[in-house]
Amino acid sequence: MGEDAFRRAFGGYQIVMPEERAVAHRHAASAVRFVVMGDGRGYTTSNGEQMFMEVGDFLVQPSMTWHDHGNLGQEPVVWMDFLDGAVLGPMEATARDEWPDGDFQPVTHPEGYWAGLYGNVRPARLIGAKLASIADSPPVRYKWEDTLPVLERMAAEGEHDPHDGVLLEYANPVTGGHTLPTMNASLQLLAPGEETLAHRHTGFVRYDCVRGKGVTTLDLEDTTELEWGPRDIFRVPSWRWHRHKNLSTTEPAILFSISYMPLAESLGLYRVEDAPAGA
Ligand SMILES: [Fe+2]
Ligand SMILES: [Fe+2]
Repeated sequence: MGEDAFRRAFGGYQIVMPEERAVAHRHAASAVRFVVMGDGRGYTTSNGEQMFMEVGDFLVQPSMTWHDHGNLGQEPVVWMDFLDGAVLGPMEATARDEWPDGDFQPVTHPEGYWAGLYGNVRPARLIGAKLASIADSPPVRYKWEDTLPVLERMAAEGEHDPHDGVLLEYANPVTGGHTLPTMNASLQLLAPGEETLAHRHTGFVRYDCVRGKGVTTLDLEDTTELEWGPRDIFRVPSWRWHRHKNLSTTEPAILFSISYMPLAESLGLYRVEDAPAGA
């Protein structure tokens, strides 16, 4: 299966059937992937590490990471993938290389290698100022089994954002800042029955419902209601007032989201405003 088989628009779905493989390549566009289906035997090999993908796992392949995909399982693996190519295009900041043999890259590192290099204990050469730049960001996988307990613990301890409920961001392992220089990915939990306050900000946010059901209301008058449930996708456009509500009174709702907020911030274009009280 060649690259042409894949959708490369911002926010596509990708499916790899059992025994299918995609050849290795790299490009200037960074990719993030959030796994929605599969038996845990689908994988992406990133810079020599074969990363198996379980439902809820989140993978980041920064700019110019060698990657190829395959599936050793019995079920299709499906993930939502997001690339920042749309913002690279106008700058002609694009680049692309095929793996030299036009084939798959060899697995040269054990599983967990890249996350381990940038974990709480790391090689002295990778500490603080010795890091060359964010351009050296490694490919990493954020396991669902590690992420979900953090979200649930924060909810239990009352951590709370009035506009987003319990809000986590997938941190860049090099800087501790946004996921990537261009894009950030977040995971948020709305408690049973929770309704957030409205705000608005520049840049769109694309949401994917992971669990639960709810409604996101756009605008303060003549409102538009976007109802969502598991695996639904919706998008909040730039500078539109919005608030979220969990429609269940017994179960939490969990949303995954992605935006270009880091890029807007770095250009001085990110604005956020709270709605007037009582709105
Ligand atoms: Fe690619
Ligand atoms: Fe928002």
